Amino acid sequence: MAKMEVKTSLLDDMIGVGDMVLLEPLNEDSFINNLKKRFDHNEVYTYIGSVVISINPYRSLPIYTPEKVEEYRNRNFYELSPHIFALSDEAYRSLRDQDKDQCILITGESGAGKTEASKLVMSYVAAVCGKGAEVNQVKEQLLQSNPVLEAFGNAKTVRNDNSSRFGKYMDIEFDFKGDPLGGVISNYLLEKSRVVKQPRGERNFHIFYQILSGASEEFLCKLKLERDFSRYNYLGLDSARVNGVDDASNFRTVRNAMQIVGFMDHETQSVFEVVAAVLKLGNIEFKPESRSNGLDESKIKDKNELKEICELTGIDQSVLERAFSFRTVEAKQEKVSTTLNVAQAYYARDALAKNLYSRLFSWLVTRINESIKAQTKVRKKVMGVLDIYGFEIFEDNSFEQFIINYCNEKLQQIFIELTLKEEQEEYIREGIEWTHIEYFNNAIICDLIENNQTGILAMLDEECLRPGTVTDDTFLEKLNQVCATHQHFESRMSKCSRFLNDTSLPHSCFRIQHYAGKVMYQVEGFVDKNNDLLYRDLSQAMWKANHSLIKALFPEGNPAKINLKRPPTAGSQFKASVATLMKNLQTKNPNYIRCIKPNDKKAAHIFNEALVCHQIRYLGLLENVRVRRAGYAFRQPYEPCLERYKMLCKQTWPHWRGPARAGVEVLFNELGIPEEEFSFGRSKIFIRNPRTLFKLEDLRKQRLEDLATLIEKIYRGWKCRTRFLLMKKCQVVIASWYRRYSQQKKYQKIKGSAITVQSYIRGWKARKLLRELKHLKRCNEAATVIAAYWHGTQARRELKRLKEEARRKHAVAVIWAYWLGLKVRREYRKFFRANAGRKIYEFTLQRLMQKYFLEMKNKMPSLSPIDKNWPARPYLFLDSTHKELKRIFHLWRCKKYRDQFTDQQKLIYEEKLEASELFKDKKALYPASVGQPFQGAYLEISENPKYKKLKDAVDEKIIIAEVVNKINRANGKAASRIFLLTKNNVLLADQKSGTIKSEVPLGDVTKVSMSSQNDGFFAVHLKEGSEAASKGDFLLSSDHLIEMATKLYRTTLSQTKQKLNIEISDEFLVQFKQDKVCVKFIQGSQKNGNIPTCKRKNNRLLEVAVP
Ligand SMILES: Nc1ncnc2c1ncn2[C@@H]1O[C@H](COP(=O)(O)OP(=O)(O)O)[C@@H](O)[C@H]1O
Ligand SMILES: [Mg+2]
Repeated sequence: MAKMEVKTSLLDDMIGVGDMVLLEPLNEDSFINNLKKRFDHNEVYTYIGSVVISINPYRSLPIYTPEKVEEYRNRNFYELSPHIFALSDEAYRSLRDQDKDQCILITGESGAGKTEASKLVMSYVAAVCGKGAEVNQVKEQLLQSNPVLEAFGNAKTVRNDNSSRFGKYMDIEFDFKGDPLGGVISNYLLEKSRVVKQPRGERNFHIFYQILSGASEEFLCKLKLERDFSRYNYLGLDSARVNGVDDASNFRTVRNAMQIVGFMDHETQSVFEVVAAVLKLGNIEFKPESRSNGLDESKIKDKNELKEICELTGIDQSVLERAFSFRTVEAKQEKVSTTLNVAQAYYARDALAKNLYSRLFSWLVTRINESIKAQTKVRKKVMGVLDIYGFEIFEDNSFEQFIINYCNEKLQQIFIELTLKEEQEEYIREGIEWTHIEYFNNAIICDLIENNQTGILAMLDEECLRPGTVTDDTFLEKLNQVCATHQHFESRMSKCSRFLNDTSLPHSCFRIQHYAGKVMYQVEGFVDKNNDLLYRDLSQAMWKANHSLIKALFPEGNPAKINLKRPPTAGSQFKASVATLMKNLQTKNPNYIRCIKPNDKKAAHIFNEALVCHQIRYLGLLENVRVRRAGYAFRQPYEPCLERYKMLCKQTWPHWRGPARAGVEVLFNELGIPEEEFSFGRSKIFIRNPRTLFKLEDLRKQRLEDLATLIEKIYRGWKCRTRFLLMKKCQVVIASWYRRYSQQKKYQKIKGSAITVQSYIRGWKARKLLRELKHLKRCNEAATVIAAYWHGTQARRELKRLKEEARRKHAVAVIWAYWLGLKVRREYRKFFRANAGRKIYEFTLQRLMQKYFLEMKNKMPSLSPIDKNWPARPYLFLDSTHKELKRIFHLWRCKKYRDQFTDQQKLIYEEKLEASELFKDKKALYPASVGQPFQGAYLEISENPKYKKLKDAVDEKIIIAEVVNKINRANGKAASRIFLLTKNNVLLADQKSGTIKSEVPLGDVTKVSMSSQNDGFFAVHLKEGSEAASKGDFLLSSDHLIEMATKLYRTTLSQTKQKLNIEISDEFLVQFKQDKVCVKFIQGSQKNGNIPTCKRKNNRLLEVAVP
């Protein structure tokens, strides 16, 4: 097992010494070395008893994580390495468990880490105290009050980028369970002079820069602001931007925090309006104006800014303008108005700005308190956290530093009171012998400042209230008179000659030797700042504002509440509030965090020994250690002491039954610790030397190791035994389960086997039965078969016998018949030979013929002349008869067919017959014409009025009327003509007009020529010398060539009794006028479709391309 890394004691693995009380040897060097060593190892916290010294690391260390919080939670103070959480835990627990109100006092110079420490304490307490929705809200509000107050009250100074410019004391209230209920914040004197002027290298309060960087354009516009810092006189420019600070994002954080704390939207808006107004006030400038009466007067240079401020704050412009020019003094019911010169006007302006801002700040604190105050009236436990501005020494120190440092003096005072004094008093209380330890008590310095008669503050007040001219110088004079003899007061003018020649001390200054060092104060401004005067005219003007927040900030401006009494001065106010604070702190259990600044550069890792040494000295830390050690370095009540070391002695280990003190006595005697090393107090044991404590711790550590071994041994034995017992128990359980399981298995197996055996036997039995039954069945079947066979055999035998018998009978009959035949033939042989053979032959022949004709009658084919069917020939000897019969039948049916024809039909068939004789097998066009009926008159000459003229010209019967193409003999082109054939003539007429172009008597037609191919060309040859022949032969083409040629032939034959010569040839001559032209038919391409084309090739050749 890996060793857990838990530090069990402050003394384990410590870098240097965690508690200075244990430092050996104790002197300034070792003290600083110890701090430095720890600081170098990132150990920034060191104890002096219960006081925590914190050195600012100036960088974030990983020691504030939630895990760390858990580590320190509910642990003893000395158990873990020193940490601010340990102190917080101690304080919280004694508040919760012991009902003691606590206060955490955080002190140190400016920039030493006080504010951070206070936040760490608060966040630790928030983390460890109760949880729940309501509690969490309270916590959140308490924590979120910080960013708001820091934005308005912190600023960058040369010492610290986030220096608190106000003092803050926060009481966190808890209920009896330790759950937070709420809180109350008190603020102390804001350094308001910063609003109007900042020292070199410093900034105004953060909020001004945050608004200008972070607000949206729209919001800025609403506030009448511009983003540019340089536009505002009140903003110190030389360090407007701070490294590592994001003003814009901080602005969002602040707004968010305001929301969480419970600011209403209109409140937030008003707050920012006031901030904007303050910023803009700085831009108001004045110029001198001389009056005739010699009085100086001032006038506002540019009224624009004033106008905007008035719009923003709802103040009447003229009222504010007047308030900047006049001052009204009231004395004894008399009002006197005086004009303000330029300097006074500027003073008034700045006073207004400072007052507005500081009152706004106080209002914010009051408003936050309203939100975070506890809601119940039950008794509360309180933990106060004080984070006040640290001791400050600047080049120029003014009233503010004086006040701040006074406050620190008071805190040192309370530290001394409670630690050094209290410690020593404890010894007396406990009845321990004690010799007093000397330490520097700063009560004398406090007295110098706050003494009611001779204190500096009292003197200042006196000056301020005195009638007559009062200046800072008169104040200094007074100081010189009264305080000159005080040890801690130094002034050039004082009667004491010590400083007369001290050139480092200017005349206008005085110097105080504070506990933390000498500080020189510039007397200039003390009176004014203490007076904190705001002309009544201005407060009245503010009260008149139409802006509820501003009105509320200046209640004294209300004329109804006019109070002629002077308000208390700033100094006396502060003194009073500090006194209240001190009284408050004294009622609580103090816890100290003493912050130390390791260097002046705000830099990490630098440890300036001289600087640290100075702080250690004035903080009196060494004395602190000494007091704790002089007598006794260590003390502890008896009970926890016995509890811690009881294992070192047999009597007290493991239990001591008697009183704790007796137990400790026994223990220390047993250990042999010399008597001078310890003392018994009333309730505590006091140990003088740290070494004794170390020894005790060493022994304890050793003993703890032994005990650990012992515990480990016993634990191991116990563990092994428990494990063994457990295993044994387990084994029994497992075994019983296993046995049960295996028996179950076995039983199931046997059961299974029994069933199997049973089923086999049953099966076997059943099969045996089946076999027997089958055998029986087969026997029966066999018997049946055998019987059947037997019967069959019997039957067959019988059949055979019967057949045999029949055969025998038949044979007998045949033999008998043969025998008879033989006998008859023998008897009739002489007659048969002459006639019987011929007769049988003829008879047979007759019978066959008869059969043939009878069969033929049933097999006759149809009467269609084209039916080729004829029954097959049955007998060879009838072959010729059969053919003849076929011929006769065909002729007969043809006749039958012809007999049906009318005369007209006969004519048509005759014509077709003629055509067949003329063209069949000669002209390729012929077969296509067979199916076409010959119509002759394709053109309805007599009916169609178009041909009336033609009809009138021809009075004979028209045999053919058809359109043909006449081929032009010159070029082979075709022209349509009407072709008419009458009984005596052939006529060609124009197709359109019907005019007759040629008329040829049939007797003049000698020949018709055509090709053997599939074309419709034909030439009509005319008799030479006839009238018609003068133009030459006709070359025509027609779709009905076959019909035309046939009809021409028949008509010629009937008219002239001469056969017309029809020539079928692929090359023939045609007479054209005087020439003979050869018409040649060739196989042409299919280019022109199926139409033959005619072309004149030369004088002698006309070529017809037939597809
Ligand atoms: N514990 C810390 N861890 C890291 N940085 C610290 C710590 N304490 C202080 N600082 C740094 O020092 C700066 C000054 O600390 P702050 O608490 O404001 O000083 P003070 O309030 O004493 O004037 C802080 O802004 C922070 O940067
Ligand atoms: Mg601070």
